Amino acid sequence: MSRKIMVFDTTLRDGEQSPGCSMNTEEKVALARQLERLNVDVIEAGFPIASIGDFEAVKAVALALEKPIIAGLCRANEKDIHRCYEAVSHARRGRIHTFLATSDIHLQAKLKMSREDALERAVSAVKYARSLIDDVEFSLEDAGRTDWDYMCRVVEAVIDAGARTINLPDTVGYTIPSEFHEMITYVMNRVPNMDKAIISLHCHNDLGLAVANSLAGILAGAGQVECTINGIGERAGNAAMEEIVMALKTRANYFGAHTDIVTEEIYRSSKLLSSIIGVEVQPNKAIVGKNAFAHEAGIHQHGMLSDKRTYEIMTPESIGLSKTELVLGKHSGRHAFKARLEELGYSLNPESLETAFEKFKALADRKKEIFDEDLEHIANEGLKQVTE
Ligand code: KIV
Ligand code: ZN
Repeated sequence: MSRKIMVFDTTLRDGEQSPGCSMNTEEKVALARQLERLNVDVIEAGFPIASIGDFEAVKAVALALEKPIIAGLCRANEKDIHRCYEAVSHARRGRIHTFLATSDIHLQAKLKMSREDALERAVSAVKYARSLIDDVEFSLEDAGRTDWDYMCRVVEAVIDAGARTINLPDTVGYTIPSEFHEMITYVMNRVPNMDKAIISLHCHNDLGLAVANSLAGILAGAGQVECTINGIGERAGNAAMEEIVMALKTRANYFGAHTDIVTEEIYRSSKLLSSIIGVEVQPNKAIVGKNAFAHEAGIHQHGMLSDKRTYEIMTPESIGLSKTELVLGKHSGRHAFKARLEELGYSLNPESLETAFEKFKALADRKKEIFDEDLEHIANEGLKQVTE
């Protein structure tokens, strides 16, 4: 039986925290509607205490959407939590997501708090949040650098206080997949009341491991994954939703887990986000980059023309793209060249095709990109030769 993994999208909160990616209320609502079409389970719409604008945005998203849970983030104090409640209470299903750091470095250098005081603060924050709303998530900020036994004590205590989702973030993207797997397994095996809550993952990408760590955490038994569209987020970003979702879909048998994401909406979501924040993804970005479904090498193109499964582990249609692109360049071979000419309506005899192919290769050595107009020009010359 495949296990359902809840997708918690934080593009509108952690994603928005990345430099140059802030969004106004109207933009947040537009993106939230697309996230609803994508069928995410939870949308973290903002940090209501941060500003009046962010409060209004969370409230507007809460009012606009029907299906997903709408979460707001707040620090572990009554003022923040109440403000968050005021915003998410407008949702059909609202969630208060409160957090407190638990690593020694954060406790000592940032919060100036002892471990015992932090544990008490976490418990009272969760109790207060639960007095306002049923759905409460608690995050142990910097869990990736927190002592594991202390982490277990905090997790057990906040579950007793009423938290039903426990998030263990790798806030600074410090852990590596095998270690993160071990950490999640440790907590799940040691905390006695773990059956009352689900474990959530929230990985940052400072070492480029956010998606790998998230997948490792899922293999260890986590039930929710926090991520952003295009992987935007603080510093090097958060785990990219499209990568996690497509890994689970493409390797469903290996993971024995699935999400309910409508994957055909992935490309549209990526493009909408890029147009709102004005930041395009890099061409080789997995899943949604311009080159993710483009093939240039001759051997690959030949394979693709025989059977797409030779070089494609998922179809472009599965993320909402219309088709694979065979890009013609200096690495391309005759098969792809001939196929593209035929698509453009040219059928050359073998001799003209050979001459045209040589011209194409010479041009491809000089030009970075070959356009259809270049091919048409070469093909027309070939046709002229035939008729002269
Ligand atoms: O990275 C992090 O730890 C966070 C928490 C506030 C959930 O964003
Ligand atoms: Zn984060």
